[in-house]
Amino acid sequence: MKRLLTTLLLTYSFLGFAQNLISNVPNRNTTSLNGVWNYIIDPYQTGFYSFHLDQYDKQEKPAKGAFFTNYHAQNKQELVEYDFDKSPTITIPGDWNSQVTELKYYEGNVWFKKSFDYNLAANKRLFLYLGAINYKADVYLNGKKLGTHIGGFTPFNYEVTSIVQPKDNYLVIKVDNTRHKEDVPTVNTDWWNYGGITRDITLIEEENSFVEDYTIQLKKNNASIISGFIKINNLNSAQNQVSIAIPELKINYKGKIAAGGILNFEIPAKKISYWSPENPKLYDVTVNFNGQKLNDQIGFRTIETQGDKILLNGKPIFLRGISIHEENAKGGRANSEEDALRLLNWAKELGCNYVRLAHYPHNENMVREADKMGLMVWEEIPVYWTVEFTNKETYQNAEDQLTASIIRDKNRASIIIWSMANETPISDARNTFITNLAAHTRVLDNTRLVSAALLTKKETIDDPIGEILDVVAFNQYLGWYGGNLEDAEKITWKSKYNKPIIVSEFGGDAKQGFHGEKNERWTEEYQEYLYIQNLKMIEKIPHLSGLSPWILVDFRSPKRLLPGIQDGYNRKGLISNDGNKKKAFYIMQDWYAKKKNE
Ligand code: GCU
Repeated sequence: MKRLLTTLLLTYSFLGFAQNLISNVPNRNTTSLNGVWNYIIDPYQTGFYSFHLDQYDKQEKPAKGAFFTNYHAQNKQELVEYDFDKSPTITIPGDWNSQVTELKYYEGNVWFKKSFDYNLAANKRLFLYLGAINYKADVYLNGKKLGTHIGGFTPFNYEVTSIVQPKDNYLVIKVDNTRHKEDVPTVNTDWWNYGGITRDITLIEEENSFVEDYTIQLKKNNASIISGFIKINNLNSAQNQVSIAIPELKINYKGKIAAGGILNFEIPAKKISYWSPENPKLYDVTVNFNGQKLNDQIGFRTIETQGDKILLNGKPIFLRGISIHEENAKGGRANSEEDALRLLNWAKELGCNYVRLAHYPHNENMVREADKMGLMVWEEIPVYWTVEFTNKETYQNAEDQLTASIIRDKNRASIIIWSMANETPISDARNTFITNLAAHTRVLDNTRLVSAALLTKKETIDDPIGEILDVVAFNQYLGWYGGNLEDAEKITWKSKYNKPIIVSEFGGDAKQGFHGEKNERWTEEYQEYLYIQNLKMIEKIPHLSGLSPWILVDFRSPKRLLPGIQDGYNRKGLISNDGNKKKAFYIMQDWYAKKKNE
């Protein structure tokens, strides 16, 4: 098995999944490029194509009109029709919709430019790490194309060692958030299509050969062995010694990196204080390589299923959850530690031990704060509704996003579930698509559970994809998209699978502060009654192991248009977008308080 894993790791590293994505960036030697950037709105991609649609960055000598050259007119006669330095500015990271009024609904191309100096010592290497750009990014440094990345919620990086100069580097990024049916997600989503450089942009300085990535977790189904791999970038065989130090566990493991740059290891460990919501213990872990020290803060716990139970550290656990979209207090893309604390503290206040981060991988602050706060996490890729399941490129895009998520977050104890999809229509192509994603997940990480949020026909859970999932999750909206709340207690659910069940969504809209009778849609009283009745039904569902009501906070959606009530917001939040709790919040809070003491 170990040899197979090594081969697979070599394969995935050799094939350059996610361009040798560097992990644990927060603990590395970094320089932030966050801050004020210039931007140019370019709806006709004038800076990218000539008037006959020749793509400038495919030309030997790119025309001066190409924006990535950051060219300035050399004399008064010269025709140059753009100038980043005289263009408006925007704060990065941050979407353009919530920062620039005229870009609120904009879907198209915007160029960004950041100048910086950097003195790179002769024997060092430099990487440009981009936390996430929605949706497609063409990245240039000093006029040279670094690459093109698609996918709006996962990190990627490029080596810039041979391009960076001591003074006046200019980083230019073209961002296109146009939706296409072959994309992931596809053209139809119930969330705002925030465009732009939505997460941190960072320079990472490394030695000639360095620790690029590693897994340090408990071995599957074994609570007393810490196992994983260390991956060295550009191994110099003369320096192939590596050690893993976990002082609190009296571990100082030494190993030799094989020629391919990978060391697989298993380390017996005693007296581990296992990570849990009640005890979110994180250990200081240091990977020492060739005089370099890379620190991390890692929790150790087991997660598995046994029949219809989810076991955390060998004991059944009930997931008291809530679904969360990645939005900040200003009504834009969340990305900071402060944004993460605002959302996760509300989840804690609700009585949660678990959060469903919908419908895409959230920023790394969310999962690192969840580690610290003791919140278990469902992480999901945006295979949402009707992606093109027969399109091979669509599948590869989804798989790449999944790979990057797992590389970034596989050492986070809080993450217990990788979710493959949300509410996808059943078909053979869709079943194959998700089955392959699940298989890929288990190759990269065989320790966590695999799930997906499914739809159900009436009260029967029998989606064929349930066969390959560890946890069967489904969304249901009794009292909002159909059904009578008065019937709630009479409704019984059946599942085809003897597996843990999570109700991954239920809920209804309420405009905070709008009051009326409990049978009046859009009032807080209606939402409150909907929660009361749904919970009476849900608690009788067989194999129920958790729930994550939809949703913690009202969020922007271009589909939600009812004037005076929605005004471009999905109002299913238990908290309004300006931070006011609704009556249903307290129903859920009471239910969780009772559940916790059961
Ligand atoms: C769907 C979907 C959510 C959506 C919600 C709603 O189930 O998963 O993304 O926002 O229901 O309709 O409000």
